[in-house]
Amino acid sequence: MATETGTVPVEPSANDVVLDVRDLRKTFGSGAATVVAVDGIDLTVHRGETIIISGPSGAGKTTLVTLLGGILTPTSGTVCIGGRDVGAMSAGESAEVRRSKVGFVFQTFGLLDALTARENVEVALNLVGKGGASARRQAESLLTRLGMEQRLHAKPPTLSGGERQRVAIARALMNDPELILADEPTANLDSKQGRQVADILRTLADTYEVAVVIVSHDQRIYDIADRLLWLEDGHLTLPPSSSLEDR
Ligand SMILES: Nc1ncnc2c1ncn2[C@@H]1O[C@H](COP(=O)(O)OP(=O)(O)O)[C@@H](O)[C@H]1O
Ligand SMILES: [Mg+2]
Repeated sequence: MATETGTVPVEPSANDVVLDVRDLRKTFGSGAATVVAVDGIDLTVHRGETIIISGPSGAGKTTLVTLLGGILTPTSGTVCIGGRDVGAMSAGESAEVRRSKVGFVFQTFGLLDALTARENVEVALNLVGKGGASARRQAESLLTRLGMEQRLHAKPPTLSGGERQRVAIARALMNDPELILADEPTANLDSKQGRQVADILRTLADTYEVAVVIVSHDQRIYDIADRLLWLEDGHLTLPPSSSLEDR
């Protein structure tokens, strides 16, 4: 749990649990072609915590983060968000939990090139039922909070990678989520912009008590994590010491 300098660290309590995962498993295919992408994962993440899950390519990172957000259905096991078992819900209910509690950030940003930065955020607000001048103001305020006030009217192709990712983060924040899930958010960025994006994600955890779960093999950003975990062959462990050498 992140604490400010000078304050006594407080043990996280059960009330602070945002994400609770039990014996999560996901297999693809069948018979000889079966791939076990996620193989029995337990994980608890609290408010204000930043977790990075690293591991080699093909380790199951994208599968895991997609399961955590309830986008992909597990083969077995449970994912609870805000104390509610997403797998036990109807499709409509789990979509509502995703909309109201979870913000997603992807490696490739996922922005619409024909729209301005502000419009990209505004459209996402429209999708959750907010419209008009108030959606516009909220989009501007989210982007301003992320240092994008000079670029509100720029379209993604004219933005740097780091700026695009900041628009994507602003969009992920539209519903004041409890949980941010990010899949390789810095992989397409140079060191400086990757650092800025990582620092923004960390600040969200510190300032707004969001739980931030990043899957990433980018060791340049490991230092922002309260906990660094390692995913390999579908299992979650502590990172091997060799992966930490260049920190
Ligand atoms: N939709 C899918 N169908 C079949 N196999 C998949 C699918 N998605 C992922 N996999 C397999 O699951 C494993 C983990 O993939 P992935 O989660 O993308 O790993 P990572 O993000 O760590 O690179 C890989 O062997 C991959 O080929
Ligand atoms: Mg991946």
